[in-house]
Amino acid sequence: MGGLSMNEAFVQAPEHRPKPTVVEASGIPVIDLSPLLAGDGVDALAAEVGAASRDWGFFVVVGHGVPAETVARAAEAQRAFFALPAEGKEAVRRSEAEPLGYYASEHTKNVRDWKEVFDLVPRKPHVALADGQLVFDNKWPQDVPGFRESLEEYDAAMEDLAFKLLELIARSLNLRPDRLHGFFKDQTTFIRLNHYPPCPSPDLALGVGRHKDAGALTILYQDDTGGLDVRRRSDGEWVRVKPVPNSFIINVGDLIQVWSNDRYESAEHRVSVNSAKERFSMPYFFNPASYTMVEPLEELVSEENPARYDAYNWGEFFSTRKNSNFKKLDVENVQIAHFRKSLGA
Ligand code: OGA
Ligand code: NI
Repeated sequence: MGGLSMNEAFVQAPEHRPKPTVVEASGIPVIDLSPLLAGDGVDALAAEVGAASRDWGFFVVVGHGVPAETVARAAEAQRAFFALPAEGKEAVRRSEAEPLGYYASEHTKNVRDWKEVFDLVPRKPHVALADGQLVFDNKWPQDVPGFRESLEEYDAAMEDLAFKLLELIARSLNLRPDRLHGFFKDQTTFIRLNHYPPCPSPDLALGVGRHKDAGALTILYQDDTGGLDVRRRSDGEWVRVKPVPNSFIINVGDLIQVWSNDRYESAEHRVSVNSAKERFSMPYFFNPASYTMVEPLEELVSEENPARYDAYNWGEFFSTRKNSNFKKLDVENVQIAHFRKSLGA
């Protein structure tokens, strides 16, 4: 695999290293969305999604209606891309000003991740973030037949699913079903292709360091290798999310935590690697317009339950976070905790 070799940049502090034995997660909710396709059972599903978002911030969906062939074609394009010779990947390398494309130097909390990545916005208009600081221009790789078409098809399927989930979340909070839709008119959604090569020291490094997803919702496809760990809320233990065929993993992101005024919480997660087998995953990060001011929804704020966050601008937050992930900094990167109000002060 071009480029990654084990050096100290990848080494996690002892307290963040994976333990030698993994706890397989039991109890992560698996939600069957097929009643939606039949057009009934919406209230019961919304209740399930609400409970999962509250208790885990993480759940698995099956019966989601995304055709297996659509997923298979996208996964095949992903494998073909990462199998390109180094020059093919270098040709579509991202830069600080143009954040889409290939790179192998992402840092999470200032420790380098054991992975290589390709970011793209398959069907979206180019959205300039925060006064044009970031330009969302796709870089399409040469020599991967059908790459663009299969990812556009995947993107369309993900968007349908994302809006269904958004509606279920709105319903679960007793909001109008389309209450959150308006934030996504000029989306900053993107798809990331992740490749985690076999790692010689899986006890020291992580594929992605512990983090919470900053956006609204993440819809994650993972292959059958396994390695995604979520921090269980009940006891703080890291548990492995077992791959379920034909499923997607849904994470509640920081934006839903803020909009819901802490009724739902975005879950901390990370990726463990292994020395034997490469792993592929494909998250769809469903993100609102860059001009969105993010704050607790007024329907969920009252005198007894005052707003727990100050408003912040999504585009600024996102571009600051992206730049800090691009290189090692001496400071902690931006977190929603920085906007938390000190209540009762
Ligand atoms: C991420 C992430 C999980 C995975 O890219 O934000 O958490 O399984 N990925 O690759
Ligand atoms: Ni994540």
